Amino acid sequence: MIPSLLRSNIRFKLVVSLLLIVVVMGTLSLIVGIRIINKNVIREATDSVRNSLGATTELYDEEVQKRSRIVEYLAKTAEIVRATADRDRPFLFAKLAQIKAEFGFDIVNVVNPDGSILVRANNFDAWGDNVANYRYIQWVMRNKKPAAGTGILGQENIRKEGKDLAERTIIHVVRTPLARAHESPTLNEALVMKAASPIFENGEMIGILYAAILLNNNDQFIDRFKRLVFKEERIDGREVGASTLFLGDIRVTTNVVDTQGRRAIGTQVSEEVYKKVYEEGQTWVGQAFVVASWYISGYCPLRDIDGRILGMLYVGVLKEKFDAALRNTTLLFLLVIVVTVLIALPLSLFLINATTKPVQRIIAATTDIARGDYHPIVVLPHDDDDARKIAAGFNAMVMAIEERDRKIQDQAERTILKSEKLASLGRLASGIAHEINNPLTGVLTFSSLLLGDLAGTKYEEDVKVIRDETLRCRKIVRGILDFARENEPQKSAADLNEVIGETLAIFEKNVTFHNVEIVRDFARDLPPVQLDISQFKQVISNLAVNAVDAMPKGGRLTLTTALDRAAGRVEVRAADTGVGIPPENMSRLFEPFFTTKDRGKGTGLGLAVVYGIIKRHNGTIDVRSKTGEGTEFTIRLPLV
Ligand SMILES: Nc1ncnc2c1ncn2[C@@H]1O[C@H](COP(=O)(O)OP(=O)(O)OP(=O)(O)O)[C@@H](O)[C@H]1O
Ligand SMILES: [Mg+2]
Repeated sequence: MIPSLLRSNIRFKLVVSLLLIVVVMGTLSLIVGIRIINKNVIREATDSVRNSLGATTELYDEEVQKRSRIVEYLAKTAEIVRATADRDRPFLFAKLAQIKAEFGFDIVNVVNPDGSILVRANNFDAWGDNVANYRYIQWVMRNKKPAAGTGILGQENIRKEGKDLAERTIIHVVRTPLARAHESPTLNEALVMKAASPIFENGEMIGILYAAILLNNNDQFIDRFKRLVFKEERIDGREVGASTLFLGDIRVTTNVVDTQGRRAIGTQVSEEVYKKVYEEGQTWVGQAFVVASWYISGYCPLRDIDGRILGMLYVGVLKEKFDAALRNTTLLFLLVIVVTVLIALPLSLFLINATTKPVQRIIAATTDIARGDYHPIVVLPHDDDDARKIAAGFNAMVMAIEERDRKIQDQAERTILKSEKLASLGRLASGIAHEINNPLTGVLTFSSLLLGDLAGTKYEEDVKVIRDETLRCRKIVRGILDFARENEPQKSAADLNEVIGETLAIFEKNVTFHNVEIVRDFARDLPPVQLDISQFKQVISNLAVNAVDAMPKGGRLTLTTALDRAAGRVEVRAADTGVGIPPENMSRLFEPFFTTKDRGKGTGLGLAVVYGIIKRHNGTIDVRSKTGEGTEFTIRLPLV
C-alpha cells in the first residue's frame, strides 16, 4: 500500500520527504539543544558551587579572625594582665569561665610563659601540666604575637579539660565504600578552632591567653555556615545545600544526612577526593555521590597556621536542583520543537498543494482524455511560468490529437460510404449486365450473320451500325462485369515492375502517347507480389489512358513503385501533369458511368474497374489532384 502510494503520488512523496526533513532537523536540534542545555546547566551548577565554596571559606576565615581579635583584646584587659602577673588563679578561673560562656568557647586557658597551664576555665584543679607542644602556644611563645586558626586536639588533652568535652567530641568511624581504610574504629582527636594571644606587662610576656572551639559534632557551628550560604532552600523536604568539615577524610561536623535522615558524622570521603584535596592540596569541584544523594560538590583543604593540611571544607548542592532546571528547560525546548513541527506541517502541506496544483490539473485532464473527453487545461492567473508552459504544451498536444482524431474519423466515414455505395452500385450494374449479356450475344450473332447476308445491299450500312453499337454495348457490359466481378482473381507471385513495364511498353507504341513522356521510377528491392497479372495490367492501362486523356497538349506520366516494409505493403503511384480533377468530382470518380468525357469517348467504367480489381487484391486506391497541375493515383497492395 505504502510503496504503491509512493510510486503513484508526487504530493505524497513531497509531504513525506518534507516531514522527514522536519523530523530529522527537529531531532537533531533536540539532541544538540539538550547537550548544550546540559552542559550549561552543569557549568552553572559547578560555578555556583565554586562560589559557595569560596563564600564558606571566607566565612570560616572571618570566624577565625573574629575569635583571634576577641582573644587578643581580652589578653590586653587590665584585670587579666594584673591577675596573670599576680598569679591570681581564683580570679582568673572566674574570669575565664565568664569569657567561655560569653563568647561561646569550649576551652579557655591561661598558660605560663614556659608553657605550663596556669588556670583552666573548665577545671580549676587541673593545672601545672605543660602544653608547650601545642602548635599555637608554640607559635605565640616564639613570635610573641597573637595566633589563630584551625588545629587538632588529641583525646587525652581534651579529657584534661573535662570528661564531658571528651565525650562530646568522640566520633565513631563509619566504613564507607570507595574510601580509605581506617585501622581504628573511633577517631581519637578533634578538629579545633584556636586562638592564642600573649599577655604582656611592661613589655614582658607574662603569659598566654588561649581559647578554642571544638568542632567535632559541633552542629550549631556548621549549620550557621550552611544557613548563611544556602539559606533554607529545600527540594522534596530535603535541604538543597550542605556543608561539612573533615578531619583527615572523616566528617566531623556536617549537615549531610544519611538515608535515615541522621547527620552523616563519621563517614568518609571517597579516596579519589581525599587524594586530590588532602594529599595534593587542590580544590575539587564536580558531581559526587555524597552519603545518600548526588551533589554538585566542592572540597578545599583546611590548613593550620603553618600551612599543614588537617582536613577539608566541603559544600554541596543537591544535583536534583539542577536536574529540575534541566528538565524544565528541556521540556520547554521540546515544546518549541513540537510547536514548530505542528506549524511546519500544515504550512508545507499548503505549499505542496499550491505547487503541485498544475500537475494535479494535468493528471485530471489526461484521465479525461483517456476517457475521450478532450478539453484544454485552464491557466489560472496566479499560475507560475512553468505551470503556464506545461499547460500550453499540453493544450497544443490535446488540440493536435483532436484534429488527428477528427481526420481519421472523416476518412473512415468517407471510405465506408464510398465502398458501400460502390458495392450497391456494383450489384445493380452486374445484375443488369448479366441480363443484358445474353440478349446482347444474340443480337450480335444475328446482326453479324445478317451483315454477311446483306453485304452489298443498301441495308449493309444500317446493319453495320447495329453490329457496331451492339459491340459497344458488349464492351460496356464486359466493363460492368469486370467491375463487379464476383469470382476471385487468379493470383500468382509476380514482379510488379515487370508487369507495369510490359503494360507501358504496349502503350508507348500507340500514337496518342507521342506527346507524353513516360517516366519509370521503380524500386529495386521490390519483393514478388501476389497478383492476377492480366487484371493488374488492366489497372495500369486504365490509369495510363486516363492520364493521357488529361494531357491533350502532352506532359509527363510518372509510374513509381515503392516498398513500405514497415507497413508490409507495396505502393504503385501513377502521376500525370494533366488538367487535374475539380474537387466536386473527387467523390464520384470511382462510380461506374461517371465520366466527364464526350459521349462515345468515355463510358466512365475505367476507374470503376480499377477499383474493383484493387479491392479484390485486398488493396486500396487513393487519389490526390490539383486542377491545372496534375493528378496522382496511389495503389497500396499488401505483401502477403
Ligand atoms: N488522370 C486523370 N486526370 C484528370 N481527370 C481524370 C483522370 N482520370 C480520370 N479522370 C476523370 O474521371 C472520369 C472517370 O474516369 P474513368 O476512367 O472511370 O472513365 P472515362 O475515362 O471517362 O471513360 P472510360 O475509361 O470508361 O473510357 C473521367 O471522365 C475524368 O473526368
Ligand atoms: Mg478512363
